[in-house]
Amino acid sequence: MKQKGISNFSGQRIWIIGASSGIGEACAKALFQAGAKVALSSRRAERLTALADKQDALVLPLDVTHQEQLASAYQTLLQNWGGLDLMLFVSGVYTPLRADNFDFEVAQKTIDANLLGPMRAVATVLPEMLKQHTGHIAIVGSVAGYSGLPKALAYGPSKAGIINFCETLYYDLLPQGVSVHMISPGFVATEATAQNDFEMPALITAEEAASEILKGIQAGEFDIHFPKRFSGFLKFLRILPYPLYFWIVRRFVKI
Ligand SMILES: NC(=O)c1ccc[n+]([C@@H]2O[C@H](COP(=O)([O-])OP(=O)(O)OC[C@H]3O[C@@H](n4cnc5c(N)ncnc54)[C@H](OP(=O)(O)O)[C@@H]3O)[C@@H](O)[C@H]2O)c1
Repeated sequence: MKQKGISNFSGQRIWIIGASSGIGEACAKALFQAGAKVALSSRRAERLTALADKQDALVLPLDVTHQEQLASAYQTLLQNWGGLDLMLFVSGVYTPLRADNFDFEVAQKTIDANLLGPMRAVATVLPEMLKQHTGHIAIVGSVAGYSGLPKALAYGPSKAGIINFCETLYYDLLPQGVSVHMISPGFVATEATAQNDFEMPALITAEEAASEILKGIQAGEFDIHFPKRFSGFLKFLRILPYPLYFWIVRRFVKI
């Protein structure tokens, strides 16, 4: 049994959470081009309004750490559209964190936004999708969730949680006709990575990332990862025995 894709985005009702910059903004632009109806969410309302200019779009500002804001935005969306075809959760935060500056408050905020945020969004849209036996849930995780990497003491666990969450959702939703798309990007040039003080291997643009994501959803893929030359290498690393894994990461990453 294979899950469904979205062969044509034209007229599809799509909610992008985390649309104000980077990968989410690039997905919104590509979906406008493809003729989709798009709802744009994130905290910076002015950015969303500028992005929505002259498009068939709803602007629904919200903070993913507040369940009631997600619920109210979803109600507005349903009142306007009567349903939702794809919830694309892109929102995420990254603060480099190592053992010598480990800050519990940063860790808590990261998990709240990156792991509990998508869980809140899924809890919001899932009952209706289950009732209709249709719909798509796509969540952006990261290759940083595959296995432990330096400087990611909070980000890494938040993204590892996304992988497990998507895998576990897939079992339940496949027989219900609801598709799950787990998205694991490598390095993408955005505001989030502009702070990195190291050379990022296989860096791609936000537009390239958006194109990979939309292609994967069209094809009905569960595991959407890119660029393959980097994500494939990291997938290979995680099957190695730990001594070899740690040795290779130490060799390639400036620690
Ligand atoms: N760039 C990369 O190399 C890379 C690699 C792997 C995975 N990712 C993942 O890709 C996703 C997008 O990242 P990006 O690189 O495009 O970063 P970005 O440009 O910083 O975009 C992050 C988006 O998340 C939104 N956001 C953050 N906290 C939020 C909150 N509490 N409530 C609502 N929206 C919130 C931001 O909007 P507001 O500030 O307006 O709220 C913004 O739209 C993230 O999940 C990130 O972890 C990125």
